[in-house]
Amino acid sequence: MIELSGVCKAYKVGDEPLTVLHGIDLRIEEGEFVSIMGPSGSGKSTLMHIIGCLDTPSAGEYRLCGTSVGGLSARDLAVLRNRTIGFVFQNFHLLPRITAVRNVELPLLYAGVSRAQRRSRALELLARVGMEDRAQHLPTALSGGQKQRVAIARALANDPALILADEPTGALDQRTGLEIIELLRELHSAGRTIVVITHDPTVAAAADRTIYIVDGHIQREEVRRG
Ligand SMILES: Nc1ncnc2c1ncn2[C@@H]1O[C@H](COP(=O)(O)OP(=O)(O)O)[C@@H](O)[C@H]1O
Ligand SMILES: [Mg+2]
Repeated sequence: MIELSGVCKAYKVGDEPLTVLHGIDLRIEEGEFVSIMGPSGSGKSTLMHIIGCLDTPSAGEYRLCGTSVGGLSARDLAVLRNRTIGFVFQNFHLLPRITAVRNVELPLLYAGVSRAQRRSRALELLARVGMEDRAQHLPTALSGGQKQRVAIARALANDPALILADEPTGALDQRTGLEIIELLRELHSAGRTIVVITHDPTVAAAADRTIYIVDGHIQREEVRRG
């Protein structure tokens, strides 16, 4: 599903290029649950942005579901992203002025789904994450764990094959974080491919495989299952 070969990423900082990823080779098969660990600043989020088609490599090739992403227009990239990938972030990224159910409806709106279908699908997804009774709440009225559940429901809106989560438990206490990881494990059991970036070894250990990144290089990997 995910295939990176020799992927480099450099940012321009002033006049100097700053290389953040140095020739990453990585394959993730459909149905895997992979965690990515590494020190702060090691390039994890940059890698997730590339895997998520939010950014493109400076060099090397990235293939997602067999499509070479480098050759796509911004518009085609946005379509591929919307259909294939659901994103979960540390700070939830919910829109604060609209209800939970309307947050979940947003990706469906962008995908052109009708109003009635959006609502029924969004309510179904909120039920899936145990949030059906919070559908009409604003994000500000929800706890961190509840916000992350709503964000996961939103990530599932277009039934993506791949869920990418960048430090999804980073803003949660240990117990709530583990509940969120349990939810991701359930989605994995239902057949989804999950990639989670984390600082927390307990969270990382929930995955079948952990990839360790240091200074923009894959240092090693640890396989638990699969
Ligand atoms: N848009 C950017 N412009 C310049 N430097 C960046 C940009 N994004 C990230 N960086 C730098 O790239 C390095 C890796 O960042 P990041 O991928 O966010 O690391 P991590 O997620 O592992 O903490 C850091 O040194 C960071 O400052
Ligand atoms: Mg990061």
